[in-house]
Amino acid sequence: MTRPILRIVACAGAGLWLALASALAGDAPQQSTRSAAEIMDILMWNREPVGGPFALTDQAGHARTDTEFRGKLMLVYFGFTYCPDVCPTDLQAIGLALDKLGPDGDQVQPIFITVDPARDTAAHLAEYVPLFHPRLIGLTGSDDAIRKVADAYKVYYARVPLKDGDYTVDHTAYIYLMDRDGNYLGFFPPGTSADRLVEIIRPRLAEPAR
Ligand code: NI
Repeated sequence: MTRPILRIVACAGAGLWLALASALAGDAPQQSTRSAAEIMDILMWNREPVGGPFALTDQAGHARTDTEFRGKLMLVYFGFTYCPDVCPTDLQAIGLALDKLGPDGDQVQPIFITVDPARDTAAHLAEYVPLFHPRLIGLTGSDDAIRKVADAYKVYYARVPLKDGDYTVDHTAYIYLMDRDGNYLGFFPPGTSADRLVEIIRPRLAEPAR
C-alpha cells in the first residue's frame, strides 16, 4: 500500500538521548513509576520480567486485551502521535517489515500503545495508525491503565511542559518482541531498520506455538 511520506529526522537516535537526558533531569506528574535510569538498567541487564497483561481501548473504541493475541508474535511499541521524529520513524520501519514478511507477517500483531492518553483518544489514533500499516492496532486508556502497562514493559515516559503552555512527552522507544504465549523475547533499539526487524523476526515465525 502507498503511505504518505512521513517526516523522518536523521538524528532520531540523538533525539532519544536528548529525551533521556532531560527526563533524568526533572520530574513530571504524568509519568512512569520509575526513573529512566532504573528502567534502562532493568532492560539492559534483563533484571526483571518484561511485559504483562493489559486491558485497553483500540482506535475503533473497542476493548482489547493481551490474551486475544496468543498464537501470534506481538511487536509492541510505546509512543505518542505528536512525537515529531522517533515514533514515526520506528512505526514506519514496523510497517515496512510487516510488508516484507509477506503472508507470514499475518502471524505478527503490531501494537502501538500511547503514553499520551490525554491527547491520543481512540478517534485520534484512528487517524494515525493506518498511516503506518493497515493491521497496526493503536491502544489508549486511562492514565492508570497506561502507567500500568508502561511499567510492565519497562517503558519510561514523562510529560514535559513547553514554553507555550503545551507539552511534549519524553519516552524510551524500544520495539518489544513477544512470543506466541505473550512472553518477552527481546527488544529492538530505536532506529532499527525494517530489514533488520525482518531478519530477527523471520526465524521466530518458524517456531510453532507451544
Ligand atoms: Ni516518540
